[in-house]
Amino acid sequence: MVAHVISGKDIAQKMREEMAQEVEQLKQRHIVPHLTVVILGEDPASHSYVKGKKKACTQTGISSDVIELPDTTSEQALLDIIDQLNHDDAVHGILVQLPLPKHIDEQHIIEAISPEKDVDGFHPVSVGRMITGQDTFLPCTPHGIIELIKSQQIDIKGKHAVVIGRSNIVGKPVGQLLLNEHATVTYCHSKTENLQQYTLKADILIAAVGKANVIKAEHVKPGAVVIDVGVNRLDDGTLTGDVDFDEVKEIASYITPVPKGVGPMTITMLLKNTIKAAKGLGKGD
Ligand code: GUN
Repeated sequence: MVAHVISGKDIAQKMREEMAQEVEQLKQRHIVPHLTVVILGEDPASHSYVKGKKKACTQTGISSDVIELPDTTSEQALLDIIDQLNHDDAVHGILVQLPLPKHIDEQHIIEAISPEKDVDGFHPVSVGRMITGQDTFLPCTPHGIIELIKSQQIDIKGKHAVVIGRSNIVGKPVGQLLLNEHATVTYCHSKTENLQQYTLKADILIAAVGKANVIKAEHVKPGAVVIDVGVNRLDDGTLTGDVDFDEVKEIASYITPVPKGVGPMTITMLLKNTIKAAKGLGKGD
């Protein structure tokens, strides 16, 4: 079997076109969705992500601005800015780009953002609502993964999903979203003994390991759906996933590439959350 390659790029593009129409309709009601991104320091990768987010907003008709602060900014100064943004009715979504400098407690910052503007879905209120299956902002990468799987009409219900990785941003929430879709979920991580005994039982395998090409054909059950969340930069500058694409595509039924797989969906879900915030949380998606 040679896997069908799921093009996150194409699916994201289609969703963004639909969202642009929705934004147009909101504007007719004098609602202009607005995202404010806050970034500290000069990390080139973070600046590149923020640039991508801003560009995607512009293309979709969403208004956005970026507050750039020095990496010496104090935690209190950042909390004060978030407080202002929380009270600014023109700002619907707030995103503080992570990671933050070491002297700032990320959890303090995440918890300072109003849950009504938490377009990252990282606030404990959002996480709690997600776990209990309520309407909320879902974290962007996990939500994008679910949308990718659904776009192929793949039935999640009753399937065995194995998630490799347990970060708060990807691993833990994607397992929860798969559970919400009635999958049976197994979590594996860096301390898991004999990883292969679990991965070989996966109907849906989510690789969020953070190491280039570590998931080989020998880890994958024939016919499995393989979602690669890895973004690893090799010494020669090329971007590669956690999954050995060339090997695994020969036995999987579906596989996502890197780049142009999960990546474009993450920003798309941020746009979706910003529109949701503009409409008001709890007023439909
Ligand atoms: N840094 C890397 N990914 C993300 C993300 O999804 N949200 C935020 N706020 N920072 C990030």
